[in-house]
Amino acid sequence: MTSPIVLECRGISQSFAGIQALSDINLPIHQGQFHAIIGPNGAGKTTLFNILSGLQSPTAGGVFFAGLDITALPPWQRARLGIARSFQNLRLFGAMTLRENILVAAQQQQPYRLGDVFFKRAAVRAAEEALTESADLWLRLVGLYRQRDDQAMTLSYGAARRLELARALALQPRLLLLDEPAAGLNPAETDGLAEIMAHLRNDALTVVLVEHDMGLVMKLADRITVLNLGKELATDDPARIRVNPQVIDAYLGVSR
Ligand SMILES: Nc1ncnc2c1ncn2[C@@H]1O[C@H](COP(=O)(O)OP(=O)(O)O)[C@@H](O)[C@H]1O
Ligand SMILES: [Mg+2]
Repeated sequence: MTSPIVLECRGISQSFAGIQALSDINLPIHQGQFHAIIGPNGAGKTTLFNILSGLQSPTAGGVFFAGLDITALPPWQRARLGIARSFQNLRLFGAMTLRENILVAAQQQQPYRLGDVFFKRAAVRAAEEALTESADLWLRLVGLYRQRDDQAMTLSYGAARRLELARALALQPRLLLLDEPAAGLNPAETDGLAEIMAHLRNDALTVVLVEHDMGLVMKLADRITVLNLGKELATDDPARIRVNPQVIDAYLGVSR
């Protein structure tokens, strides 16, 4: 593995009133990799995800992003550094169109200065056009371009989640954290999501994915970390994880 480390957990432990949810997790996430975190219920996946996204501070250890200690930073500050999180935190604006939902997200990254508005109208207009064009690209990627002028409230559950993904991508993140993106999706919707994610993978976006759907994980992940009872059981590529006896014992065996 030669690509640089984007995100790193160093000695992360988390206890809740006597329950050791995570014990000494050391995990490097490499640039351009699709890194999945799996494990049985209670393994500590959600706890780790919350620590990575800043919803929770660990009892011990640190989270580093591009070498910077971000352990104490709240989610919005992590977002400014280029860490986008989908899906739970991105609320859609139901009364706005799909395109407007994307534009709201994209504009957060490109704030206008007052001077621009008064003295550089043409430049502002050009910037707006560019934003709209890129919003349309994201909508095409997630298969929602034709509905671009519909209100977000008209979308099915699966489509709304794809729009949420497009919004996270419009932030042009350096790292995308995905919390069970396939939860609640039907098989056809899950296939659609897998296709979109395959595109992201080809674009070498760095992604951390917590997911129960093993089919999706095995198809997409470059690397998989298996958690069990708060400990790292294994980190390896999908082919090796599939045949790892400890992993089969703890997780894969029982899920069949
Ligand atoms: N806020 C909390 N308070 C107390 N215990 C918690 C809390 N969050 C998680 N836990 C416990 O930590 C362990 C790991 O939980 P979790 O991270 O949700 O696992 P997973 O997402 O892999 O199912 C479980 O034993 C769970 O009951
Ligand atoms: Mg969970």
